[in-house]
Amino acid sequence: MYVKEISLSDFRNLGRQSVSLSEHVNLFYGENAQGKTNLLESVFLLSCPKGFRQGKDRDYIAFGKESAKVRLNYVAFGREQQIELSLFSDARKSITLNGIPIRRSSELAAQFCTVLFVPGHLNLVKGGPEERRLFLDTAISQLRPKYQRALADYGRVISQKNMLLKRGAADRSLLEVWNQRLIELGSYLTLQRGSYVRKLSAAAAEHHRRLSRGEELRCEYRWFPGLPGGEGITDLSVVREVFASALKQAAEQEFERGMCLVGPHRDDLELLIDGRSARLFGSQGQQRSVALSLKLGECELVEQTVGESPVLLLDDVMSELDRSRQQYIRSNLKKRQVLITSCARAHALKTAAAFSVEKGKVIRLFAKGEENR
Ligand SMILES: Nc1ncnc2c1ncn2[C@@H]1O[C@H](COP(=O)(O)OP(=O)(O)OP(=O)(O)O)[C@@H](O)[C@H]1O
Ligand SMILES: [Mg+2]
Repeated sequence: MYVKEISLSDFRNLGRQSVSLSEHVNLFYGENAQGKTNLLESVFLLSCPKGFRQGKDRDYIAFGKESAKVRLNYVAFGREQQIELSLFSDARKSITLNGIPIRRSSELAAQFCTVLFVPGHLNLVKGGPEERRLFLDTAISQLRPKYQRALADYGRVISQKNMLLKRGAADRSLLEVWNQRLIELGSYLTLQRGSYVRKLSAAAAEHHRRLSRGEELRCEYRWFPGLPGGEGITDLSVVREVFASALKQAAEQEFERGMCLVGPHRDDLELLIDGRSARLFGSQGQQRSVALSLKLGECELVEQTVGESPVLLLDDVMSELDRSRQQYIRSNLKKRQVLITSCARAHALKTAAAFSVEKGKVIRLFAKGEENR
């Protein structure tokens, strides 16, 4: 899929403007704080309405304005489509797809897909498990509406159960109700993550092998309280059983600590290079290659699942990579639309279109034809 045109109105510092894109590589460059990341964010937001920076919806509205709008005209599944997001300062929000109002953001899953890569993702390997969970959740949510809903429900149940546990002498029968709900939702999430990670492992391994000239990357889903080596994760009834008995076992400890101790909110994605933990033993360079391989693997899983390539959003990531990794990214850009930001024009890849971004104004500098792919 690819975006033909982005129309903006008071989204952060971007004012009111329309930007027509090439269906190949689009480079946005400019000094710091001009609006490059904001532009990628506006596109990302329509694939993942939770956004990629911390903060509230109203933060997207230009300072002093009442509302913001982002509209994308894009081509997917063989036809032109339009998706539009409006945000209002009183916290109202509306999304339409081809003019039809969308009630829940999960209905957008698999309609418009992006894969975002920011310098922070280079820490995916050495960072904490919550970053890897966020990576998985963002990736799977884009593909499966049900996952997105289950994840939100699961989060709510966890905070309710935590509240109950914190109150100390909690009502055990009420706790049992929450636990049943946790087992139901949590087992589904675990199963989906397990299945995603199996596919991701294959796709990412291929990239890592080429990037590292031969190292074997393996991704394993570590579910808590799962069985060793992530076993049993393919069978919903097994997952439920293991989860239920772990909850029972942890009950007293949960009371003492005043928080939920078992479930997918504690899981991790283990990354192994030649059988050893990349987090503990990988060099900086190896860890970066793994992060890059995961992101490129994510692109492929969108293609496999949705049947269309995602729009790849690379925010300032080239400057963080050495030549050979930059080269590897370049060789993987074909057949995908890419929006890439950079502070330097020197990063100009073989771009089909280049834009300058200055004080929120996006100006198209040149557009070359197909021969420049
Ligand atoms: N709601 C808002 N209204 C108006 N301006 C905003 C809003 N939110 C953020 N900004 C401003 O947008 C500016 C540009 O931010 P952005 O992150 O897009 O910069 P950038 O071009 O990516 O810079 P860098 O190269 O440093 O990453 C910032 O100076 C910020 O203050
Ligand atoms: Mg930026």
